[in-house]
Amino acid sequence: MTPATDLSRRALLLIGSAGTAAALAGCSTDASAGVDAGGQTATTPDGSVPQEVAKLADIPVGGSISATLDGKPILVSQPNEGSVIAFSAICTHQGCVVKLGNGGFDCPCHQSRFDTATGEVLDGPAPSPLEKIPVHVTGGVVLTGA
Ligand code: FES
Repeated sequence: MTPATDLSRRALLLIGSAGTAAALAGCSTDASAGVDAGGQTATTPDGSVPQEVAKLADIPVGGSISATLDGKPILVSQPNEGSVIAFSAICTHQGCVVKLGNGGFDCPCHQSRFDTATGEVLDGPAPSPLEKIPVHVTGGVVLTGA
């Protein structure tokens, strides 16, 4: 996220129009994301507006999907029903985009494999797990933020 995008988002939050903020920040096509049932702007603990990552129903239980967040590739898993975890899809070896595989996330460049539920390295040469992205589920929607 660029500082200009972050500044725009904060300024628009002060105005109190979450739909406008989401539209201008390009973070969601769902204007309801980040707005609670009372129409108030919901924020994460760090003060940012939650962004929609996926619909829970689109993620198979015990499986994963590919998605994007701020234009960057991510992987979203639902290891148990209603429990969702997300990871950057950028390989920790040399930065290739990790793909959905058969029983794991696979890096096409040097064949590292990662656990879909934890992001841990199953096979190297990747030196460390995939970066976790804090997400939570509200109303059947996976949103950024803890
Ligand atoms: Fe992924 Fe090398 S960049 S294994």
